[in-house]
Amino acid sequence: MAILKIARMGHPVLLTPAAPVADPGAPEIRRLVADMIETMEDAGGAGLAAPQVHVPLRLFVFRVPPGRTEAVESDGEMGNTVVINPAVEPLGEEMVLRWEGCLSIPGLRAAVPRHLRVRYRGVDLEGQPVGADASGFHAGVVQHENDHLDGILYPMRMTDFRLFGFNEELARASATQPRT
Ligand code: NI
Repeated sequence: MAILKIARMGHPVLLTPAAPVADPGAPEIRRLVADMIETMEDAGGAGLAAPQVHVPLRLFVFRVPPGRTEAVESDGEMGNTVVINPAVEPLGEEMVLRWEGCLSIPGLRAAVPRHLRVRYRGVDLEGQPVGADASGFHAGVVQHENDHLDGILYPMRMTDFRLFGFNEELARASATQPRT
């Protein structure tokens, strides 16, 4: 296994639509997924898409870490999960603003409009179907990672640039606000 170099915003690979994985069971795909999981864990991320490690293929890994589940309508924790050749569709019209970061945009986060619920389908490393009807953090991370496969970064989804900042400053600002 190896920790891979993560492409940062400005690299063209992050703006390029990725190609379908022809053979999800191929040994090189298994190796790529193992390296992506190690890279995600090393960076403390909750998701990583193949284009972020300079591989323009349609697959991503994600997890729902403890403490990232949400109070309102939330799926529970999930371990490392791979989705190859995903399709994602909204379930219903409802949108929410979700705070997101991205390993390709280090140090920053923003509130991004996302569908509250999505259904996604794909296959795993055995070519078996995977997917879920997702809500909460789970739904958000799937939409964020799937966007990477279409060359979309979260700032391209933003509607309010006041809700965009450096992690340190945002943490400082929220610490000085009265808690209710
Ligand atoms: Ni990202």
